[in-house]
Amino acid sequence: MALADCKMINIPRITDPRGNLSFIESGPAFPFSLKRVYYLYDVPGGSERGGHAHKRLKQFLIAMSGSFDVHLDDGKDEKTFHLNRPYFGLYVCPMTWRRIDNFSSGSVCMVVASARYDEDDYVRDYSDFMSLRWSKGLAPGASFRPNSSRSRQRVPLQKA
Ligand code: TYD
Repeated sequence: MALADCKMINIPRITDPRGNLSFIESGPAFPFSLKRVYYLYDVPGGSERGGHAHKRLKQFLIAMSGSFDVHLDDGKDEKTFHLNRPYFGLYVCPMTWRRIDNFSSGSVCMVVASARYDEDDYVRDYSDFMSLRWSKGLAPGASFRPNSSRSRQRVPLQKA
């Protein structure tokens, strides 16, 4: 799994003059089967969340309200996504280091996950993350080395 596997996915939207409705369900259009939902809210300005990777967990992040930035790092490349609509979500594949910051006031980050909470699935130390990436066959691409040049990319803002 590499950064290229992490991507923005459109969430179905039923528009209605009474208010719009979106839904997420397991199926061919979604990258994993859903086991857990949690959400971040009341995030003070300037806070940062995440700062870890997961060994096996697959996650899907949605800005239910407001906006925030998700910085992803697969040990070789880095990419930043700005989430600001409840009908787009970001699929974060396993073994991706993530940080979330730049939360707008009143924002809510909902996370749909492929498994129940398991602290053993977390990699909370960045050097452990890099070791795992390089020593256990989890490297995101066979041809790169930790010291090779890293690419940084910022994904453009989502349009309304
Ligand atoms: P953590 O995943 O580190 O938060 P974040 O990545 O959003 O900054 O979780 C923070 C704390 O909450 C940690 O003590 C574990 C606990 N927690 C649960 O008990 N259940 C859960 O489903 C999640 C996501 C976290």
